[in-house]
Amino acid sequence: MRLAKPSTNKRGTALKTVRALLLLPLLVIGVVSVQAQSPTYGVGRTPTENEIRLWDIAIGPRGEELPAGSGSVDMGSELYLSKGCAGCHGTTGSGGMAPRLIKRDAGPNADPWDYGRVLPIRSPYATTVWDFINRAMPLGAEGTLTADEVYSLTAYLFFLNDVVEDGTELNEKTLPQIQMPNRSNWVQVPDWLPGQPRLEGYPY
Ligand code: HEC
Repeated sequence: MRLAKPSTNKRGTALKTVRALLLLPLLVIGVVSVQAQSPTYGVGRTPTENEIRLWDIAIGPRGEELPAGSGSVDMGSELYLSKGCAGCHGTTGSGGMAPRLIKRDAGPNADPWDYGRVLPIRSPYATTVWDFINRAMPLGAEGTLTADEVYSLTAYLFFLNDVVEDGTELNEKTLPQIQMPNRSNWVQVPDWLPGQPRLEGYPY
């Protein structure tokens, strides 16, 4: 018994040392993360108002984020040529290298899905069309259109697709009020809550 005791103590001390060594990396991580949260870390800088404005361009369905401005079908038809849209999408909105922007002739009372993959007719919200043109077109020179130009081009593409009448002017108030023909053809997905089962028939 007497002989056994010191050896137990030694093992105990060795175990403590091992435990302390195991804790070391945790301590180091702790110190680093405290430093990372510190406002004096010295990396990067606060973005300017203008930088945030250029990045923060998403427009929701209700269009609350739309910038003030206005545009007309007439202006849009001119911009469609002068901004090079016609060069890729075709002068009449079809026949170019890029996807068609004018609905197919699907006959009277056609289901909007039969018009083809055409954003200005299949989108559930008018504001989505504005957002897409604003952020993504003209391809290769994205972000160069002014708000007024985007209102005009949106109005023109809506006119081509019989969503609005000739002579229509759009602004940040009237654009979100447009009832898109395909609005009720989209499935309303319920908000997902933790633990909720997947939608029936959902393949993944
Ligand atoms: C250099 C060629 C090019 C130019 C110029 C161009 N586009 Fe496009 N556009 C494309 C391509 C390619 C797509 C498809 C992009 C995709 O599906 O990701 C597209 C997609 C679109 C769509 C969505 C089509 C859909 O149904 O999904 C719209 C709307 C559109 N362009 C409008 C315009 C307007 C307005 C202009 C002029 C300001 C313009 N484009 C200029 C190439 C171009």
